[in-house]
Amino acid sequence: MAHLTNEEINQIQKSADIVNIISSYVDLVKKGKNYFGICPFHDDHTPSMSVSKEKGIYSCFTCHSTGNVFKFIQDYENVSFLEAVKIVAEKSGIELNVDFRETSKYESMYDAYDLAIKYYQNNLKSSLGHEAHKYLNDRGLSDEIIDEFEIGYASKEIDTLTKLFLAKGYDEETLINSGLINRGKSLYDLFRDRVTFPIHNPNGKAVAFSARIYEKRDNEAKYINTKETPIFKKGEILFNFHRARNEAKKLKKIILVEGQMDAIRVYASGVKNVVATMGTALTDNHVNMLKRLNVDIVLCFDADSAGEKATVAAGELLQKYGINPLVVRLSQEKDPDEYIIKHGVEAYQNLIDHPLTYFEFKKSIFSKNKNLTKAEDISKYINSVLEELKKSNDEILIESTINGLSKEFNISKSTLMKKFDSLDVKPITTKQKETVKLKKKRISLENDLCEKMIFYMISDTKYIRLYQQELSYLPISKYEEIAADILAFYIKYNYINMADFITEERDSKYLNDILEILDDNINLELIDNDFVGFIEKIKEIHKKNKIDDEVTDIKKSTDINEQLKMLNDLIKLKKDV
Ligand code: UTP
Ligand code: MN
Repeated sequence: MAHLTNEEINQIQKSADIVNIISSYVDLVKKGKNYFGICPFHDDHTPSMSVSKEKGIYSCFTCHSTGNVFKFIQDYENVSFLEAVKIVAEKSGIELNVDFRETSKYESMYDAYDLAIKYYQNNLKSSLGHEAHKYLNDRGLSDEIIDEFEIGYASKEIDTLTKLFLAKGYDEETLINSGLINRGKSLYDLFRDRVTFPIHNPNGKAVAFSARIYEKRDNEAKYINTKETPIFKKGEILFNFHRARNEAKKLKKIILVEGQMDAIRVYASGVKNVVATMGTALTDNHVNMLKRLNVDIVLCFDADSAGEKATVAAGELLQKYGINPLVVRLSQEKDPDEYIIKHGVEAYQNLIDHPLTYFEFKKSIFSKNKNLTKAEDISKYINSVLEELKKSNDEILIESTINGLSKEFNISKSTLMKKFDSLDVKPITTKQKETVKLKKKRISLENDLCEKMIFYMISDTKYIRLYQQELSYLPISKYEEIAADILAFYIKYNYINMADFITEERDSKYLNDILEILDDNINLELIDNDFVGFIEKIKEIHKKNKIDDEVTDIKKSTDINEQLKMLNDLIKLKKDV
């Protein structure tokens, strides 16, 4: 297997634009030289993460996550270093002549999905898939959309896909673990005689299928989906996320629907910022994916009471993360798919452009089945509204709602306020995804000096040369070793930069120290004279340390001649200071 050298990895780092790569995950806004965004590594509410194109690194001033483009991908995607390199190369359109099969133990599962998609697509276009194809066209899905969503057809045969896989040399265990194949008396295909919809992870890799019947069938589920596998966790996947992400960021809005057919219909109608939960409850993981986009979230679930419940559940969860979603409730039709078919995409777009706030949506639920001319119902309604209101920290919302209720029901504000104050409801506190690493050891003068010197040296080779000529030691061994690594890097490659040095040190026991030094000093201006000052201070410290050592040695010594010699040394040392 071809091996990827550090030089090649550094080349990829250089060609990849860290701002571009990170902005495919996090919305970045340029401020001065740097770009800023919501940090994905802690529960961030204001943009704490800065990304420097020039330095090739990011750093968060709240949780102090720091690193180069590979480190970002490693931590964000939870992948190995080499997988991160591969992702960066792919995203940057860099061809790698390297066999990565070994680097991802799931690689052959991803391959299996790609092959299954092609196979199902072929079926759909052949006579086998005629009826299924007709079903899709009758539902108003054009061949173009069928192609774009890679929709296919799993035939009636029990094991044609299995046979194809085995002929191609796939390993049985992999196939079974992938959820595509099952083992009974012998191996057989899991999806049969159904329309197949591939489901992708946020990177755009196919990791599962949802497969639908295309005619009425008794006692069979409408959809069957891939089971949970190492590469498919339902709670971590939103249907269409990889296609919708960029459009959502552009439009500052993402629409959440229940079914994949809804997402496909909405998308195919030109509204591309749409994802589907695929009928499961929204999870913390979903929320984190959505939150990182830093855009408005519009919940547009089915019109039935299950859809209403799902909207409430999603809304409560999102609020825990500090997000107030917007809500569109469909009257008339059962889901976005049917709504667009009957009323057209303009009408749907109009609904999306005029959503309810989550609070308004909750009020609409409270008023349901109540007669708001009757005192009892008014009392119940107001009580529920005030309870909901009390969860909020938004003083303006509180005051304007109380004013509104006062006018609407002709009740004095003081009565409403008294009621409001007496309610035993606590404002929603937002969830911390990770406890933010709290700053930080108290830094001694020596530590601080060493760290600054290291930072200078990682920033510019002239400081490495100065260090080598003037000092070539540091008073703390950890830093001295890091400095030696920097020197070694410079000798090996004849340049230095932060991003590539991080790559070089990826397996070093000092990696975290190095990242911390970069994070601590990231805004430090490099001034030659300061660096010379550091060198002088360190020399001074070095001498003082030597004098102290000498003094203790003299005290320890019992030999008068030795003592005399050491005293002479001491005098010389003291003269130099
Ligand atoms: P729906 O029953 O609302 O399906 O389930 P739908 O989106 O309207 O689908 P069509 O229009 O009939 O084709 C919503 C979602 O719940 C999941 C699917 O992901 C579906 O998109 N579901 C539903 C299943 O997984 N299995 C089922 O049997 C039904
Ligand atoms: Mn539907």
